Amino acid sequence: MSATQYVSLSTESSSAFPMAARGPLSHKLMTVLADRPETTPVDPGLSEAVGAALAAADSVVYDDDVQLSLFVLYGLHYGSFAGISPEWEWQPALIGARLELERAFEAELRSTVAVPALPEPTGKAVAKTLAEITAADAGPSLSRFVAKKATAEQLGEFLMQRSVYTLREADPHSWAIPRLTGRAKAALVEIQADEYGGGRPARMHAEIFATTMRSFGLDAEYGRYVDDVPAITLASLNVMSMFGLNRRLLGAIVGHLAAFEMTSSIPNGMYANGFRRLGYGTDVTAYFDEHVAADAVHEQIAAHDLAGALGEDQPHLVADIVFGAAACLAVDGWAGAHILDAWTAGTSSLRSER
Ligand SMILES: [Fe+2]
Ligand SMILES: [Fe+2]
Repeated sequence: MSATQYVSLSTESSSAFPMAARGPLSHKLMTVLADRPETTPVDPGLSEAVGAALAAADSVVYDDDVQLSLFVLYGLHYGSFAGISPEWEWQPALIGARLELERAFEAELRSTVAVPALPEPTGKAVAKTLAEITAADAGPSLSRFVAKKATAEQLGEFLMQRSVYTLREADPHSWAIPRLTGRAKAALVEIQADEYGGGRPARMHAEIFATTMRSFGLDAEYGRYVDDVPAITLASLNVMSMFGLNRRLLGAIVGHLAAFEMTSSIPNGMYANGFRRLGYGTDVTAYFDEHVAADAVHEQIAAHDLAGALGEDQPHLVADIVFGAAACLAVDGWAGAHILDAWTAGTSSLRSER
């Protein structure tokens, strides 16, 4: 069945979501969730629908139905969908569905993401390994394309692709705060305090990005562009949510944040230049300019005080710190490659089924 058919199906059954379903599983979930939990029995066919979706997916990472389903299920924890009852959050059948999808998602990442030789469990060695893998992450550069060649239309696509995570920037990594102790916890809070504006709501990075979107002429309402982005863009947020919401993956969410911060400062300078090249002002570029300076600091805290300290204090987490960092680079690399491939082929990076 084509995705187009589900577009119409879901608009009929569920206007509670800002996006359409992409297959049988996401359609089923969105239909169930649009109801009130107290009037809806636990769906007996959900587990079978999860199994069928996983069996139908060639790649979990790239599968639209699976990634949208995960996005919907994580949205229950973030409160992403205003019309959906919060009572669904801990519904056992939904948690079971999420765990089953996560098992497959994690297994695929563990089998496809290349992980380097593990460092000794010292702060210095962990930070050095992270510096090596982030420095080696020199794939085809989306940021260079944005700086030198992107058209205004492509810059709009870029903001739409980014909005799925960035309008909720920092939230997935914050799940780790109560799961950490000691110096790693202090380091994460130091980074996140900055991400959340240091007490000034207008300085929250997600809010600065919302201003960028509005100034560019886009809608900054959360979820507005989910229909436009491919599964791999959803996967780059879902991987953070999976790492953040599972305490057993604490090392992975810390490694993810470290890699994210360590590969942010230079690309953000290029993104800012791309927007300036086409005449956009600081109302649009402020978000990117902010990250040139902020992430040059965050990357040091993340590599040494957060990931390094955690590896030293809890040596059994070193393997997952490195895995989380490698997974961040891999998934964000795939998402970036999708955009760059489309643009260099002269097509849109947005979904065409709409
Ligand atoms: Fe930020
Ligand atoms: Fe940052």
